[in-house]
Amino acid sequence: MTIIFHKNSRVFHLTNGKISYIMRVMENEQLESIYFGKCLNDRDGFEYQHEAVSRSHAAIALPEPSVLSMQYTAQEYPFAGTGDYRSPACTVLQENGSRISNFRYVSFDIELGKPLPEGLPATYCEESEEAETLIIHLKDDISETELHLFYTIFRDHPAIARHAEFVQNGSQAVYLERALSACVEFKDCDFEMLQLSGAWARERYIRKRPLEYGMQAVSSMTGTASSAEENPFIALKRKETTENQGEVWGFSLIYSGNFLAAAEVSTFDMTRVLIGINPESFTWKLMQGNTFATPEAVMVYSDQGLGTMSRVYHKLYRSRLVRGYWRDRPRPILLNNWEGTYFDFNEQKILSMALDARNLGVELFVLDDGWFGRRNTDRDSLGDWYCNRNKIPSGIDGLAEKIEAMGIRFGLWIEPEMVNEDSDFYRAHPDWVIHVPERYRSHSRHQYVLDFSRKEVVDCIHGIIRKILSEAKISYIKWDMNRYMTEPYSIALPADRQGEMMHRYILGVYDLYEKLTGEFPEILFESCASGGARFDPGMLYYAPQAWCSDDTDAWERCKIQYGTSMVYPLSAIGSHVSTVPNHQLARVTPLRTRANIAYFGTFGYELVIGNMSAEEKDAVRRQIAFMKKYRELIQTGSDLYRLRSPFEHNEAEWIVVSKDRKKALALFCQKSNRVNGSWLRMKLDGLEPSFMYRVFAFIDEGPREFTAYGDELMKIGIAIDRVDLTVMGGDYVSILYEIEAVSCADATPAQI
Ligand code: GLA
Repeated sequence: MTIIFHKNSRVFHLTNGKISYIMRVMENEQLESIYFGKCLNDRDGFEYQHEAVSRSHAAIALPEPSVLSMQYTAQEYPFAGTGDYRSPACTVLQENGSRISNFRYVSFDIELGKPLPEGLPATYCEESEEAETLIIHLKDDISETELHLFYTIFRDHPAIARHAEFVQNGSQAVYLERALSACVEFKDCDFEMLQLSGAWARERYIRKRPLEYGMQAVSSMTGTASSAEENPFIALKRKETTENQGEVWGFSLIYSGNFLAAAEVSTFDMTRVLIGINPESFTWKLMQGNTFATPEAVMVYSDQGLGTMSRVYHKLYRSRLVRGYWRDRPRPILLNNWEGTYFDFNEQKILSMALDARNLGVELFVLDDGWFGRRNTDRDSLGDWYCNRNKIPSGIDGLAEKIEAMGIRFGLWIEPEMVNEDSDFYRAHPDWVIHVPERYRSHSRHQYVLDFSRKEVVDCIHGIIRKILSEAKISYIKWDMNRYMTEPYSIALPADRQGEMMHRYILGVYDLYEKLTGEFPEILFESCASGGARFDPGMLYYAPQAWCSDDTDAWERCKIQYGTSMVYPLSAIGSHVSTVPNHQLARVTPLRTRANIAYFGTFGYELVIGNMSAEEKDAVRRQIAFMKKYRELIQTGSDLYRLRSPFEHNEAEWIVVSKDRKKALALFCQKSNRVNGSWLRMKLDGLEPSFMYRVFAFIDEGPREFTAYGDELMKIGIAIDRVDLTVMGGDYVSILYEIEAVSCADATPAQI
């Protein structure tokens, strides 16, 4: 791994043997982007890549005879007013009303390891040898604003992390109107853009579109979340790129608020990727001595398809974004009471649910919404974080003690960023909610957003939550956030700082997370936002797992979890088995299928075990035992291969393979059954071709087993018998294949 600087050509080359990232300082002291992709041989002379021809009508950046035109130059961090009419990476408004800047190269530093931006989530190193960081210093002489561009290249990952920092040295205040995290330019536009789009209960569906001239972008404007509608991620792939072959570039933003991820294609067929805080409604005032750091963007390159790109993100995010006690630990199997009871519970009911769960092997009971204030509907009490003793006479501490006495752990739901108007907290602090004085305040789910851009608000909530966590034996927290922001405005900020409000809000959320995770390092935090509206890398820095979606239907979950896996590791995906008919869709799916899909995540239940038949309880007991056996494989460092997309087929298939390739677990699931249909073959991936494997599955309660070489399983595949599928129940049936390497001597002839 090296960062090379060629003095003569002023070219920077970041490479780790897997990827290369190349840029240079041009004659006008600005930075030209040269290349990002597969590793290239190093040379002193990449500057020949610059297009040094004059085009008619081009604005020329230097006196004659130079023909340097920003319009036709691929740039590292472009700014406005240079004759480059594409979107800039930054815009700095100055005292005289001008938005023209000229950030010129000053110097650079190379550091071993990776510095961390203050107050923001980011990838990190454990040993300084794991990464090297280049910091390029630029300066605008007129406004005396400095720009520092950070590039970290990882030794073990084909990935580069980038962010920018602005420092104001001059006496005038400047306003950042746009301060993106990264800009990357490509010298062609033969790409498809892949995005993860959706809505509540159908988050992160995979969408693709060919790039066209102009701007194509995904973004969030919701204020409180990266959103269910769009995820802070895009990938550019070649048309022919599939799961396991072809080039793809991923761009992921470690941020939980308003973002923009865009690909802008010029009519000269150049593609500019921009990613960072959404500039819409954003400004940041920088006074003398102030610094502003952008969130971090993580860029991954793969020439072996989308699957490899995903595995790079999984590994990097699982091991160098997620932190703390739970990072490498298998996650507890939980029972959450939400879909089982909603608000309708009391202590007795909760204790009996917990006991039933414990008896089947569940390790953690989670008490969801409805335990505080007077809360029996979603109309009141958010903010009143004290136990409703009418429902739970023993209090949270007493209940936790009783559940701990059963030999399992206790977890609690909170929504600390919100209040209902009907709450003591709101009556005490009516001005703490986000609103514009005198204007109508929109409510959503009858609730309002606390102004977390204000330190005193965050500190007050911190004190309240800290007290709850100190007084009761709580092992897990589900931190929910159930509404987007409206009328964004903070009465604590002056008029010229209102554009800071939404970013300050997210910084306030991060601050509270940092405090609580620091004070209670062994509590497992699961983030949640009306299901999966905050499933983003920013959250994963604080909470190692996130509730993936409020849609718990098995087939819908196949799609949602498949899409989520494009970027996020299975250890982050909160997944539960719920009852049927499903509460969101009224769909009935087999209990086995619900479990088979929920295994590929953190796993738990969200139903009343007491309402199940003896046979179902027995199945649950077996499922829990199965997950205990397999969760290490699923959650701690194996490779996921997506085999068949439920977005394109009637089936979903994927496989998780251990690092040593000796163990694997493969899922087959179908949507609707077909009579006399075509052959179905599940071609596996990730296995060692020369290993002999024993493949085991339960098909309609009958164990089936056969042995085969890895290459057969990958090239010919496992035959799925349609008659079996019909016998198993037809629609929504699934088969889980347990796969283990055996020595050739143990091999028995194929039995399926
Ligand atoms: C959100 C969450 C659910 C549940 C409810 C409680 O919708 O996503 O899992 O916690 O809130 O109100």
